[in-house]
Amino acid sequence: MTKTLHVELGDNSYPLIVGTELLNGVGELLIPHTKSNKVLIVSDAFVETHYMPVVLNSLKNVGFDVSTIEVPIGEESKSFAQFSRIQNSLVKHQLDRGSMLIALGGGVIGDLAGFAAAVYMRGIPYVQIPTTLQAQVDASVGGKTAINHPKGKNLIGAFHQPKLVVIDVDTLKTLPLRDIRAGLIEVIKMGVIRDEPLFERVEENLEAILNLDNTALIEIISQACVNKAEIVAKDEKESGLRMVLNYGHTFGHALEALTHYTQYRHGEAVSIGMNCAAQLAVNLGMFSETDFQRQRALLKRAKLPITLPSDLTPEALCAAMYLDKKTLGGQLRLILPTRIGEVVIRDDVNDQHILEAIAQCF
Ligand SMILES: NC(=O)c1ccc[n+]([C@@H]2O[C@H](COP(=O)([O-])OP(=O)(O)OC[C@H]3O[C@@H](n4cnc5c(N)ncnc54)[C@H](O)[C@@H]3O)[C@@H](O)[C@H]2O)c1
Ligand SMILES: [Zn+2]
Repeated sequence: MTKTLHVELGDNSYPLIVGTELLNGVGELLIPHTKSNKVLIVSDAFVETHYMPVVLNSLKNVGFDVSTIEVPIGEESKSFAQFSRIQNSLVKHQLDRGSMLIALGGGVIGDLAGFAAAVYMRGIPYVQIPTTLQAQVDASVGGKTAINHPKGKNLIGAFHQPKLVVIDVDTLKTLPLRDIRAGLIEVIKMGVIRDEPLFERVEENLEAILNLDNTALIEIISQACVNKAEIVAKDEKESGLRMVLNYGHTFGHALEALTHYTQYRHGEAVSIGMNCAAQLAVNLGMFSETDFQRQRALLKRAKLPITLPSDLTPEALCAAMYLDKKTLGGQLRLILPTRIGEVVIRDDVNDQHILEAIAQCF
């Protein structure tokens, strides 16, 4: 079973293919999207061991001249050092403007390789083959690429759309369940911000999803990508609408920063953040208690955390929220739900309300 979606961005439009057993046919999938037979595949140590052989084989079988580069596992690889290594490799293997870079891995690889492709020769084509649920439903769609600066995450980056995204759900079979749950939050988030039927589908198929049932996975991943593609199509460079994707993230980013990015997966911090944002919306009289409990119940069933750690104070979390780079002109912009399937952007919520809502979420 395979679904093909289209991310409509004028000249930058591209197809996104979701299905099973796609990696062994990736060579054929790539042919219509490249003018040159040279490709460089970027991956990390885990992905290299498990998925590189099949991808390499498929590309070589249809005549591609393939080079590979592996970076260390983890967020630390979104660095100047790894970025430079990739540039050196691109130069060494003489990739030209028509050559293709392939990001094979999670969101770290997608962001790093995407940024490398964005600036080498002022931009060469690249393909995303995301292998984590987080990357499949979020990072691989939208063309945001970046590396980190010691002073902050994703500070150095570019918008650069891929030519093709290939999502093979078979790769999720090796992903730890904790990462499946954490990635699922971005799907649930999408349901809350604009797609009530998707939210309901996750409610109804949660066990099948967590058991990695192919049909259930393809359904929710493709629907999450449809939503993200629609948002990106309306706001490619994040000037307005795209901000709604930040639901739960202002609280979540603050929590991640305060816990030094070690205690929570990103999705877990966002889950807690969504609970805080929903509580705040209830307190402001804009979100019903019933919908609040509905979101809470799904997060709990998915075994995602919803409460803040006891060693944190509301004041510390609120202060950290102001340091998130999504803050504009010193004013917090919060994405708050009005019902499951709709959110609004609010920049007029006072700190007292925010502190009260946070205090209710321990
Ligand atoms: N560009 C965007 O729009 C966007 C959106 C959201 C997140 N991101 C970025 O994505 C990154 C997080 O992505 P991530 O969670 O995928 O992290 P990641 O790439 O570090 O992957 C997490 C871990 O999973 C391993 N892994 C990858 N595929 C696997 C598989 N199939 N089976 C088992 N293990 C596998 C990796 O080796 C790594 O250890 C962050 O850097 C974040 O900033 C970008
Ligand atoms: Zn996120």
